[in-house]
Parts: sequence; C-alpha cells; structure tokens
Amino acid sequence: MSDTQKRAAGEAAAALVEDGMIVGLGTGSTAAWFVKALGERVKGGLKIKGGVPTSEATAALARELGIPLLTLDEARELDLTVDGADEIGPGLSLIKGGGAALLREKLVWEASKRCVCIADAAKKVPVLGRFALPIEVVAFGHVTTANRIADVLSEHEIGVGPRLRMKDGEPVLTDGGNVIYDAACGAIPNPSALAADLKSLTGVVDHGLFLDLCDEALVASDSGVERLTP
Ligand code: A5P
Repeated sequence: MSDTQKRAAGEAAAALVEDGMIVGLGTGSTAAWFVKALGERVKGGLKIKGGVPTSEATAALARELGIPLLTLDEARELDLTVDGADEIGPGLSLIKGGGAALLREKLVWEASKRCVCIADAAKKVPVLGRFALPIEVVAFGHVTTANRIADVLSEHEIGVGPRLRMKDGEPVLTDGGNVIYDAACGAIPNPSALAADLKSLTGVVDHGLFLDLCDEALVASDSGVERLTP
C-alpha cells in the first residue's frame, strides 16, 4: 500500500517538470518512482536540460531511462529538486539519509530554487526523531568522532548513542567513501541547535536534518496526494 502511495507522490511530482528545466533527482524508493515517471515524460518528448542525480544508484536508474544527466558543477543552479524523506516534521523539517545519500542530497537541495519532498503519509510525524538520525562521518577515526557525537547528543538530552550502520558484516560506505552513524533520538527537542552542534564537529561531514530547505511536500495517502507548505 505504501508503495502505491510512493508511486502516486512520485508521479504527481513528475508533472511539475517543464521543458528546459534542470532537475535534481533524489534517492530512495519514493524518488525512484519520480525518476521513472520523469523518464516516461522524457520518452514522450519532454526536453529537460538535464537531471542532477543525488547518488550513483539514481544516476544508474536515470541513465537506463534515457534521462540526460548533468553534474552539480555543470548545473550550478537547479530549477527543481524532487526527493523523498524519512520523516516530515513541523514546518516541513525533514530527516533524510536512510539511503545513505544525505550529503549529495543536501548539496543538490541547497543549489535548487525549489525543493519538493515526496512521501507516503506514514512519514509525517509531530516531532522529528522517531526515525534514527543518519550522520555521515569521515572513515578515518570514526569511532573517536562517534564518541564526540555521543557527547553532543547527551548535551541535547538524547540518551542513546549513535550506531555504526552495517550491511553484511561491513560498515556501509556512502558514495563519498564515508561511514554512517544512526542516532535513535526518540524525539529531538531542538533540531536547529542539534544540527549546528553536529556540524561543528571535525569528522562529521553532514547529518540528515534538512531544516528550512523544503519548499513543499507532496504526501500521498489513500485519499489522494496532499500538497503541504511550511
Ligand atoms: C536517501 O539517503 C534518503 O534521504 C531517502 O530520500 C529517504 O531515505 C527516503 O527513502 P524512501 O523513499 O525509500 O523511503
């Protein structure tokens, strides 16, 4: 059922793309529906300047679908970015990074004139923090950095320390070769203060708090796609 909703949100977002646009292509299962729907429109004659993928996985999917691609540096400024989220909180504050692509996603979002989040209704929360917050950390000395992250979390009255994300017995590496720690915060009392404190740690590349970046959200439920603004 949630896949039907993700698809509906992705298809609604694909309808926002116009000829001549440079479009940021998000990462994850919901964003993949958007990329597929955009691929259909491109096959049907839509002429975008290019898509800027936020991960190698999205780049591969877009290539398969015949979507022309640009790097972020070729694009410089994007007209529209469409991407999923792990949580949508008050004022369209978001947690992202469940797919380990948060750094490239944030770089692309920050270069975009309009950022649209697409999601199924289960992603909406009254307070951010139910989904464990992904934090991207430089691999060198990552245990030391994780201890410093734990100190920051406890200063924010978040009792649970960060856990290194593993897959098949190995640390998950991002497209940039960094590792991911997930912090099961429970509820984040002050997301913007936490974002600033995490960002100030040497060794932390970025975190999954996307604050004041999302211009609108298309959230699909059984009753249709709802458009939310901050
Ligand atoms: C990728 O790193 C994430 O930010 C995704 O956008 C997020 O995890 C949502 O993924 P799904 O659409 O698969 O739930």
